[in-house]
Amino acid sequence: MKNRLSKVISPKTGKTVMLAVDHGYFQGPTTGLKELKKAIEPLIPHADCLFITRGMLRNCVDAQTKIPIFLRVSGGPSVLKEDLSDEHITTSMEEALRLNAVGVGMSIFVGGENESRTIANLGELVNEAEPSNMPVLAITAVGKEMARDARYLGLACRMAAEQGAHIVKTYYCENFKDIVKSCPVPIVIAGGKKIDEKDALQMARSAIDDGAVGVDMGRNIFQSDSPVGMIKAVNAVVHENASVDEAYQIYEKEKK
Ligand code: R5P
Repeated sequence: MKNRLSKVISPKTGKTVMLAVDHGYFQGPTTGLKELKKAIEPLIPHADCLFITRGMLRNCVDAQTKIPIFLRVSGGPSVLKEDLSDEHITTSMEEALRLNAVGVGMSIFVGGENESRTIANLGELVNEAEPSNMPVLAITAVGKEMARDARYLGLACRMAAEQGAHIVKTYYCENFKDIVKSCPVPIVIAGGKKIDEKDALQMARSAIDDGAVGVDMGRNIFQSDSPVGMIKAVNAVVHENASVDEAYQIYEKEKK
């Protein structure tokens, strides 16, 4: 378990830049990931880990690529559905081991229609993962009607940790420190919808300052006008303690 986790969370900095490219599991060919192989190739050298589905791993990532793989193992409803919480575990532990994953991840939908089942799915996934020492990452998915505040996200993160998740992915929000305080496992933030590059770097900076161990970021990297610039800049924030201005300069330089 420790060995797998140390492949993702750098033992040197205690931090991680995970590159999330699993969006197609319910969104289909997401902007920026239409040609996934082409999109991720230049980014891989700057990421600590890829968060991806088994199908895209099989088809779009060279088997000789050294990057550690965190597998998205849940799915079900598409973006066409009103309620996205109707998820199941779709990829087995045997498959994750066969694919040499360093971890598996799934969403929980606290407050969603199928809240209870997604929490049970998480407990079950942890049961299956423990004998193989496979880290489990729980994602606190947010329904359209849920407030992205510390009270709600704190509830969801804590529930994930109580079920045995080894890492939690959630969103950054005001009073993020309170979420970190009440969740005893490492937290990474998702980037969410594409925002201005400087704002995204500020979000990463604030999350790290408030106790996140890193990011599992997607759209704010691969939908940027300079994806390589953005991942390099995020890397500098996360691993080198760069300020927002320093990181923004890295992005701008690469963009030019
Ligand atoms: C949702 O599709 C996945 O959990 C993503 O991996 C997660 O939301 C991170 O990606 P982004 O930074 O684009 O929100």
